[in-house]
This record gives sequence, C-alpha cells and structure tokens, in this order.
Amino acid sequence: MGAGLVELLAREMTADLQAARQDAVKRAWASGEEQRADLVSKGVRFGAIVAKPDGVVDLSGVEGIDADLIVRPFSRKGVFTSIRQFTINALNIHHGMEAMERFGVRWTGTHDFAESGVPDAVTPGDVSALVAFQATLPPPTVKQDLPDDWRIAAEAGARQFTVLGCASCHISTLPLKSLTFTDPAPYDMAGTFARLGNRAVDRIDLSKNALRRPIAKERQGEWLIPLFSDLKRHLMVDAQVSALGNELQAQRFVERDVFLTPRLWGVGSTAPYGHRGDFRSLDEIISAHGGEARFARDAYLSCDKAMRENVIAFLRSLEIKSP
Ligand code: HEC
Repeated sequence: MGAGLVELLAREMTADLQAARQDAVKRAWASGEEQRADLVSKGVRFGAIVAKPDGVVDLSGVEGIDADLIVRPFSRKGVFTSIRQFTINALNIHHGMEAMERFGVRWTGTHDFAESGVPDAVTPGDVSALVAFQATLPPPTVKQDLPDDWRIAAEAGARQFTVLGCASCHISTLPLKSLTFTDPAPYDMAGTFARLGNRAVDRIDLSKNALRRPIAKERQGEWLIPLFSDLKRHLMVDAQVSALGNELQAQRFVERDVFLTPRLWGVGSTAPYGHRGDFRSLDEIISAHGGEARFARDAYLSCDKAMRENVIAFLRSLEIKSP
C-alpha cells in the first residue's frame, strides 16, 4: 500500500545524495583540495564523503545506505530499489515465473528458461502492468471516529512518540516534490528493465490514485507523506538487547543485525511484528529495540504504564484499509 509514493521518495533522495557526491567531486577538481560533503536528503543524514582532487571519493563515512548512494526502500533489509525489481524477484521466488527482462533469451539463451512450455511468458509489459497496479494503491490511513478515550490516548501517544525519540528514525512525514511515477525506474540495474538514455517512459500521475487518502501539503508545496520512516538502515542490536540479531538469511551483504526503519503507517493492521514476525505485540517489538534505538527503547520502558499504553493506542490508530 502506498508503494508508489515510497519509491518516489527514495528516488528523490537518491538524486539528492548523488548530486552532493557529484558536486564534491567537481569542487575537489576545481580547487585541487579535498572536499567534504554531508549526505543529507529530506532531513535524513546518511553520513559524509570526502572527494579528492584526483577524483577518488572516500566513502568510509557513508551511513545506513549502500556505497552507490541509492536509497533502497523495499524489504526489511532495504536492499530492493524499485517495485519493478521486487516484482521480478517475487514472480521468480514465489511463483516460479521468469520475467524476460531477467531470464529471457538475451541473458539465458532460451525463450523458456522455466521449462514451462510457455515461451517468453512474462513480458516487460506484463511487469509494467504489475508495477502500475502496485504503484497506484492508496497509502495506509488513520482510523477515524475512534471512541473518545482511544482518541485522547492516541493524541497523547503521538506526542510521546516524538518526545521519546522514536520519530528520529520513524520520521512522521517525508516531503515529496513530484507525484509523477515513471516506469521503468531510473536507478535499476541489469536484470531489471531500467530507464536508458531517452527511451520512452510511462508517466503515471499518482494524485489521481495513490492520493485517495487525505495527505497534507506543506508551505513549499511538497506533499507530506506520512511514512514514519527515514528509509535508512540502522544497527538494532547491542550486548544487552539483542533479540533482533536473529536473522539467519543474509541479503546482499547487509549485516545480520542491521535493518531498514520500517514504515509504521498501517502498523495497527500488520501484527505480528519484527522482520521475522516473531513479536506478537507492539509492546514486545518496541522493547526489543537495541543498538542505535536503545535510547528510545529505554526511554519508553521508563515511562509509566499509562503513557506506554498511549504510545500503543497511537500506533494502533494507524491502519490499512482496502482501496
Ligand atoms: C535507531 C532507529 C529507530 C528508533 C529510534 C526507533 N525505531 Fe522502531 N524500528 C527501527 C527498525 C530498524 C525496526 C525494524 C526491526 C526489524 O525489522 O526487525 C523498527 C521496528 C519497529 C516496529 C515494528 C514494525 C513492524 O512492522 O514490524 C515498531 C512498532 C516500532 N519500531 C516502534 C518504535 C517506537 C515506539 C520507538 C520509540 C520508543 C522506536 N520504534 C524507535 C528503528 C528505530
């Protein structure tokens, strides 16, 4: 739900970060001196880089993102760039169906890599249709007409969520400049049909579909997408609080105890919680936050019971409704 908006946010962030890198390289070249650049987009800080006069860029200070500075907003590890890439993986892994753009004759030498008897079964157009469907699904929403006691608790919980520091990662809204979703996407690589040169792209105006939920605009005219995420990866484990260090599957070389901040819009509808779905309640998953989130978890646990319940009441008011 809301995946088109999520991908657009990630694309705009990638463009900002890559522009910062390009600018630092240019400045270093022109000045003959090392140039440092902070990697910041939409208020989220991804560390810093140092460009050298010979064009080499020191990436050792990059945080929470891959060294290519592409924001990958999908999967718990934050390793998938686009709805398109995710879709091709899912067709393959979950359905045993092979998209031409990754398994077609160009790459495998056969029109029927799946040996299904159906040559070229999933065309780039089929994948585009699946992408368009997902990109235009409306985002999650906030429960309306709550009983008074729940509404008052949720309002107090929303304030507490910020006070405790939860919103430093689960940022309540990220500003989005453009609602025009283009397909294919700009930052995909081989195996996922990507935008090449000035080849034609489809343009989908998400304001007609994905904005069927009320979403505010800020003064600069940007849409405030209520994600409750920074689209950045964080270390979630330390020596005392280590329950989230239990992921056995490595994904694209991201450390086992590092995860993308999940979007909390809709979290009231998506129990169980955590990357393995092994936390039954919101209270349990919050108490399992270690590492970079340890301070916020400790602050939460030091609240009295009524205040903790307010935070839960707030989270439970964020729901997914069918389109
Ligand atoms: C340092 C960044 C950070 C801070 C601070 C933080 N979180 Fe999280 N949160 C995460 C990450 C990363 C995960 C994903 C863990 C996983 O995938 O298993 C997560 C998971 C969650 C989930 C489960 C979502 C789901 O669908 O599984 C909830 C609920 C949540 N956080 C609430 C909170 C609350 C409440 C606070 C404040 C007390 C907080 N978080 C503070 C990064 C953070």
